[in-house]
Amino acid sequence: PRKLIIDCDPGVDDSLALILAIESKEIELIGITTVYGNADVDTTTGNALRVVELSGQPIPVARGAEVPSVIPPREHPDFVHGADGLGNTALPEPKLKPAAVRASEFIVQSINESPGEVTLMAVGPLTNLAEALALDPSIVDKVKEVVVMGGVLYRPGNVTPVAEANIYSDPHAADLVFTSPWQVTMVGLDVTLKVFLSRTNLERICKENAHYGPFLHDIHQFYMAFYESREPGSDGCPVHDSSALMYLLRPSLFQTVSGPMRVVTEGIATGQCIRAAYSFQEGLEPWSGKPRVTVPLEVNADGFIEHLMEILL
Ligand code: BDR
Ligand code: CA
Repeated sequence: PRKLIIDCDPGVDDSLALILAIESKEIELIGITTVYGNADVDTTTGNALRVVELSGQPIPVARGAEVPSVIPPREHPDFVHGADGLGNTALPEPKLKPAAVRASEFIVQSINESPGEVTLMAVGPLTNLAEALALDPSIVDKVKEVVVMGGVLYRPGNVTPVAEANIYSDPHAADLVFTSPWQVTMVGLDVTLKVFLSRTNLERICKENAHYGPFLHDIHQFYMAFYESREPGSDGCPVHDSSALMYLLRPSLFQTVSGPMRVVTEGIATGQCIRAAYSFQEGLEPWSGKPRVTVPLEVNADGFIEHLMEILL
């Protein structure tokens, strides 16, 4: 199995991605690192611990960044994930405690312990990754690959007309992650808004998976209601963060493009991701000399949901 660290801000869709990673036989989840985002970092850390506690697996959770690397913190989207980050489900305090080490240190240590073997999947603001890069720049040569859920190229953003939430939360960190010389895939709204978990499938998971089903069912109610209210007649919710995991599990479900990527860090387009699409653009500043980032633009949504259900049923 692939050794994986998930850096996240749980978060309803983060929690589903964590459970899928824990349950997939193709993944060895060696640790979870947490960041502010869908809620403050103490809340997201508590939620990661709740998921780990439910799993019964000895997976370390390392608490990370409290605020973005440069800009002031944004408001948490409690209207999407609830004030508790898990759809206002009022779950009891977890008994487990976070690891003694900070998220960025955990990332650096794990990559150095198994050079060439650790994949880093980031599904929240990218502050912990930026911190890890500052702590030990040599991780770019030792990490296996980096997969980010964030950004968007050819659709409107979900926070501003051009920006997706994870990138908008810390655009400086995102720009650093995309321009560092490691292998990065940006799984953004271009594909994540094409894959919906329906209420029918959620009910099936609830009935047929006695272990995780009721938890997944409860945390998704508020989140699904939010997405359904935005588009009357729609059913269920996108599973954003699980798309990054599915890209690792079943890359053939995705069609990708690539190119050097920069993130706008100031002004009305803050958080916009801009890819140099043609080779002549790759020579221009500020894309010049930057590595190519892979970006899925199309996804086989039926194949995606089929494998998601396979993991959980
Ligand atoms: C991303 O933002 C968060 O609300 C979700 O957990 C996901 O990581 C989608 O834009
Ligand atoms: Ca997230």
